[in-house]
Amino acid sequence: MEPVTVVLAELVERHRADTAGDVARYIPELARADPHAFGLAMVSVQGHAYQAGDAAAAFTIQSVSKPFVYSLALSELGLAEVARRVGFEPSGEPFNAISLEAGTGRPANPLINAGAIVTTALIGGDGEAAFERIRDTLSGFAGRRLTVDEDVYRSEAATGDRNRALAYLTLSQGVLERPAQQACDVYFRQCAIEVTAVDLAVMGATLANGGRNPVTGRRVVDADAAGATLSVMATCGMYDHSGEWMLRVGLPAKSGVGGGVCAVSPGQFGVGVFSPPLDPQGNSVRASAVLRELSAELGLHVLRHTERARSPLQAVRTDHGAHHLELLGDLGFAAAEEIVHCVRRLARDQPRPLVTVDLSHVTAVRPIARRLLADCAAGLRARTTVRFVDPAGLVRRPSTDRSDTPGERAERAE
Ligand code: DON
Repeated sequence: MEPVTVVLAELVERHRADTAGDVARYIPELARADPHAFGLAMVSVQGHAYQAGDAAAAFTIQSVSKPFVYSLALSELGLAEVARRVGFEPSGEPFNAISLEAGTGRPANPLINAGAIVTTALIGGDGEAAFERIRDTLSGFAGRRLTVDEDVYRSEAATGDRNRALAYLTLSQGVLERPAQQACDVYFRQCAIEVTAVDLAVMGATLANGGRNPVTGRRVVDADAAGATLSVMATCGMYDHSGEWMLRVGLPAKSGVGGGVCAVSPGQFGVGVFSPPLDPQGNSVRASAVLRELSAELGLHVLRHTERARSPLQAVRTDHGAHHLELLGDLGFAAAEEIVHCVRRLARDQPRPLVTVDLSHVTAVRPIARRLLADCAAGLRARTTVRFVDPAGLVRRPSTDRSDTPGERAERAE
């Protein structure tokens, strides 16, 4: 199996047994969700896609729609106009809280329900046109035409009195730009859009890639809107769990009561997870656990220390059918993924060539990168010979040796 896929499949298997939490029931139709469904997907900003478990299962996007609609509003109106109606401070409160700023009446941020309804109401046109604009944008993020789960839409429309109350409150504060019932109707439809974990990963990868979908190559929103959206996801995406999330997972993310979570490694990856049982904050239990582990194992925390953040492929040369890859820098997960992809492509283009991977100029190899490179070489053994030029012994070291860099090893030897 492809090495990145193996890592994702292992994560899914490790967390399958975690049966804590319960599916959302306050929207009656969501109570029918399968608590065992569990999918994980990852898409790089180069457009490489990986998945494990039920990554192709459909569910309603719910609150994961909010950051994407916010980015559309930012693209259409600019940050200053949007900020007159909705703030960007973490509320520290549940998603359905009455959280309006004293003085301005603005909802605290666009990711709690009050702020999301105000944001949705900023999208131009009548109700129908506004919804189609939202659907088109979310489809652009996902790279395919998204549909609505009509049963979930009707179920929420029939029961969503708290959201209607929030809409009327914001209307009374002068920050809601359309009639409250119409704003809620568009918002309920937006929440009932059906996606898969793969869709969420592509959507996240589009934000990671500055607003251009890396799979379709199409720009969906401008880079400023994508960046502002990631900032708000980083501080407010997991509601009253946002602080701990940033500490432990360290990725901008958004959850939904359908069981979906979209997380973003800026400039690198989008990740989509689906598992319906939720914790008391309304965040998927398995998704939170799997993302915490994925972030740690793959070294994706946005505030982690890195020595270098550029392509590890210094040069790729081909002489008489033999390929030579010269690598550079600190090899973490993203670097290893890029190298593995390159080696596999070279091996596919020309069966039985020699691929030399030169680590002479590499400063560090993180454990996940060492593993992916070794698995890649092992997996291709039948088709090609992958040879490492590894003078510092960075890849071929016993697994008990936990140090990563020549410097760390020298320090330890003293
Ligand atoms: O407005 C609601 O209550 C739902 N349509 C969406 C809430 C939601 O997904 C909260 N996120 N975890």
